[in-house]
Amino acid sequence: MSNKMWGGRFATGPDAIMEEINASIGFDQRLFRQDIAGSVAHATMLAETGILTHTDRDAIIAGLAEVLAEIEGGSFTFSRALEDIHMNVESRLREKIGDAAGRLHTARSRNDQVATDFKLYVRDTIDTLVTQVHTLQLALVNRAEEEAETIMPGFTHLQSAQPVTFGHHLLAYVEMLGRDAGRLLDARKRLNESPLGSAALAGTPYSIDRNMTADELGFDRPTANSLDAVSDRDFILETLAAASICAMHLSRFAEEMVIWSSAQFGFVRLSDKFTTGSSIMPQKRNPDAAELVRAKIGRILGALTSLLVVMKGLPLAYSKDMQEDKEVAFDALDSLSLSLAAMTGMVGDLVPNRERMRASASAGFSTATDIADWLVRELNIPFRDAHHITGQIVALAEQKNCGLEGLTIEDFKFIDQRIDSRIHKVLTVEASVAARQSYGGTAPANVLVQAARWKTELTGQPHDPRPLGKKKHGTHGDGGVE
Ligand code: ARG
Repeated sequence: MSNKMWGGRFATGPDAIMEEINASIGFDQRLFRQDIAGSVAHATMLAETGILTHTDRDAIIAGLAEVLAEIEGGSFTFSRALEDIHMNVESRLREKIGDAAGRLHTARSRNDQVATDFKLYVRDTIDTLVTQVHTLQLALVNRAEEEAETIMPGFTHLQSAQPVTFGHHLLAYVEMLGRDAGRLLDARKRLNESPLGSAALAGTPYSIDRNMTADELGFDRPTANSLDAVSDRDFILETLAAASICAMHLSRFAEEMVIWSSAQFGFVRLSDKFTTGSSIMPQKRNPDAAELVRAKIGRILGALTSLLVVMKGLPLAYSKDMQEDKEVAFDALDSLSLSLAAMTGMVGDLVPNRERMRASASAGFSTATDIADWLVRELNIPFRDAHHITGQIVALAEQKNCGLEGLTIEDFKFIDQRIDSRIHKVLTVEASVAARQSYGGTAPANVLVQAARWKTELTGQPHDPRPLGKKKHGTHGDGGVE
């Protein structure tokens, strides 16, 4: 039998393989809410503009409410012969209310319908993702506040560079995530134009009111060009680009979790809830959740690449190629959502080992820059010369097999007569981080100010920065320094 929605000129139905390659209902059924909302808005507008009778409109809206309830309740039978969510919903509506259902498709096409549905879906998803990003940021900010004074090694090239505070390190991710939320919201702003009423590609001869449907669906305005409206997938591309960057950030953080939780680093302990054991090595606590978050960028960026390639070279306007947008996008956005949730859980549960971090922070002559800075500040030695002198001091410490704080004043004077005992006070990692109070620097005082700023931003409420020296302990058992 030919398709009852478009089969008028067809003598036979599609080949089984045709049906299989053509149908999207297997994945686009998740657009049912948006599809029904779009149809309600369209029917309402058609009645307001006198294209549809109020009786038909009422029957359509009541029937769509029943269809919605059936899908939500799980009693709806999706049919592959009906290809996609649009025709599945409309066909069921016809079974329920008869001929009036056939008038719903006046002045629209599946081309503007699918663009509208997908935009609404992406818009909802952005809202959820942004909330999730904010939740993760808040978890990090709370952690940063607790760890404002915790000293850890700062790395460049993964080589010990200068000591930093753990709170400062965590706040770096808060900044990245802030930009991620901004990018998602930026995409949302640009996507918020309604394609509905663009019809198949050229617009429609009916005197429809596109502003009305745009308003009804929460769009800022209707799209201004019908050809563009039905063939534009920038909104999902942009969202996937923003999602890819966010996933890349999560991947970096996940990698740090993996490194930090290793026995060799031992900076943090991930909770039992986010690790797994090994069936052969009883000692293992594998950071699987972190590893999977590290990996998810693969499919998220893959979706962006895949859709860019699908869209490349497509002539205007709609082509069926564009149906390939959904599966990859759904998968990518689901993956980002899951990654954000997993990260939030891990951040909330992790136990830092403050002693271990501090010990590691002083390894590798990490306060050498502080010596050079002291020579500049106190002895007025040009930085380049100070750098050279400090290099000799480091070499001496290396030779004596001790840290910089293990050198005596005689050792320093052996390198340069002008150095006096005041040098000792800049050698500790505490002094090093406390001194870095330049705006954006790692000093504990800065961390508290920045954490308070983020809290205000994320919760809408002003927070007093907690005074230094009031570090919260207790909940993170084995990590305390005291
Ligand atoms: N299932 C289609 C998609 O996802 C809907 C639009 C189909 N339009 C058409 N003229 N065949 O793109």
